[in-house]
Amino acid sequence: MASAVMVLAASAAVAGQALAAPGPSSDPSPAVVGGTRAAQGEFPFVVRLSMGCGGAMYSPNLVLTAAHCVNGTGNNTSITATYGDVDLQGSKRVTRQSNYVYRNPGYTTATGGDWALIRLSSPIPNAATLSLATSSAYDTGTFTIVGWGAASEGGAQQRYLLKAQVPLVADTTCKTSYPSLKAPVEICAGYKQGGTDTCQGDSGGPMFRRDNANNWVQVGIVSYGKGCARANYPGVYAQVSALSSAIAAKATELGRG
Ligand code: ARG
Repeated sequence: MASAVMVLAASAAVAGQALAAPGPSSDPSPAVVGGTRAAQGEFPFVVRLSMGCGGAMYSPNLVLTAAHCVNGTGNNTSITATYGDVDLQGSKRVTRQSNYVYRNPGYTTATGGDWALIRLSSPIPNAATLSLATSSAYDTGTFTIVGWGAASEGGAQQRYLLKAQVPLVADTTCKTSYPSLKAPVEICAGYKQGGTDTCQGDSGGPMFRRDNANNWVQVGIVSYGKGCARANYPGVYAQVSALSSAIAAKATELGRG
């Protein structure tokens, strides 16, 4: 049963996380897994969450992340979001505490729907936001993945944001690796040979691509995988196009800032 070996995210929860600086740029050591450093400002909507997950700014006061990154719905002042700097210790970083968490009540590992919204105690002025895919039109092609998670299976969390690109894996193909894939609400991406993937600590972060107007659009939320970057085991992402109307409705209720 594959799920027994899929490490679900909050396990990445990082007590006293060690932040490993990447090697010099001549060093081919990977990032995300198989990635490279993101430039400052390249993906301004990405945030790091203190429980050891990623997220994306949905609005100036709401962060979209994974349900499996949070414990439940309700008032919650325990999460710190770090925005604005690829370097988690950099001087451009802006931090906010959470004041409320909404965890998709329908989420289980059996049903999927791995999303949650975190409301910040105050909006981040002029925050860059990432639009959600509202149809399946962009659930194809090559996607960008980013995160401060492990750069190798079992590896350390990262100080600097890493990025990589991964192609769509069709549902039928992905089901041969993950027979219990929840195809309507999960989307897979990666190379058959492995080598490039999200990993522990990237959970909740966005997978995205350009739309026809050349704007970034979010198609996935990092959810799970067997190990990281293994051949024939792509990453599995919550499929935003199937979830975006519920997310948008809840965001309106929470007050989008
Ligand atoms: N659940 C993981 C987390 O805690 C993310 C795993 C993604 N794994 C993968 N092979 N794409 O961050």
